[in-house]
Amino acid sequence: MRLTSRVALVTGAGHRVGRAIALALAGRGMRVAIHYNRSRADADGTAAAIRQLGTECDTFAADLGDAEAARALGPRVAARFGGLDVLINSAGIMTRASIEETTPELWDEVMNVNLRSAFFTVQGALPSLRAAKGKVVNLADVGGLEPWPKYAAHCISKAGVVMLTKTLARALAPDITVNAVAPGAVLPPDEWSDAARKHLASTTPLGRLGSPADVTAAVLYLLEGGDYVTGETIVVDGGRLIR
Ligand SMILES: NC(=O)c1ccc[n+]([C@@H]2O[C@H](COP(=O)([O-])OP(=O)(O)OC[C@H]3O[C@@H](n4cnc5c(N)ncnc54)[C@H](OP(=O)(O)O)[C@@H]3O)[C@@H](O)[C@H]2O)c1
Repeated sequence: MRLTSRVALVTGAGHRVGRAIALALAGRGMRVAIHYNRSRADADGTAAAIRQLGTECDTFAADLGDAEAARALGPRVAARFGGLDVLINSAGIMTRASIEETTPELWDEVMNVNLRSAFFTVQGALPSLRAAKGKVVNLADVGGLEPWPKYAAHCISKAGVVMLTKTLARALAPDITVNAVAPGAVLPPDEWSDAARKHLASTTPLGRLGSPADVTAAVLYLLEGGDYVTGETIVVDGGRLIR
């Protein structure tokens, strides 16, 4: 897919990985819709950085834990930009909770924000994505491919993202491709100690933590080069899953 002048919606794009993806797409000349929930100032900052690259950008607030808000997001973006070609579902939460600590409320929040939101954002965006013969990329996690007992609901939700990707890919072919990127630790939570970061790097086969650029490279491949790829999850983890 040639990206220049096409329209991309990136959820959770105010900061961190979502922001890096939004900037990378703008760098290819895409017009970019920045979604945010709480981080309005950060979203405005991402939008300003994108406009400096000389491409069009706007911000859209939505709590994607609310299925109706998720469903409405794509149509809002399409109404503003005259269409929607690419949807990147990056919004998510990483909640640490063991089996014993997981309450029904925590379970619902994790599933709604990490999994249900992506399903209903795609569902709402379908008319535009079909018309554009568009592409969807979901952000999964290596935690969706290997179990971490201290992040039980998180892992289960991200395993759901992997199957969501396959199911949507099959249902929406041949019009729309749907793929996922499953990062390892590219940008650990800010509160992680240096010792924890060093330990993670030293136990990763490629000997370092990843960076948001490692994720954006995979996203760009799926959008620009992966026209014959659908239902796939690309693991970007420095080899942690094979150790
Ligand atoms: N960082 C990593 O190393 C890593 C590793 C593996 C997978 N991933 C995945 O990659 C994606 C991005 O990671 P990240 O580290 O950049 O995530 P992050 O820092 O936790 O940011 C998540 C984004 O999700 C949005 N969000 C949270 N709750 C929301 C809600 N109820 N409604 C709408 N948006 C909501 C936030 O928006 P606001 O701030 O505006 O509220 C935020 O922009 C996530 O799906 C994550 O699971 C990341």
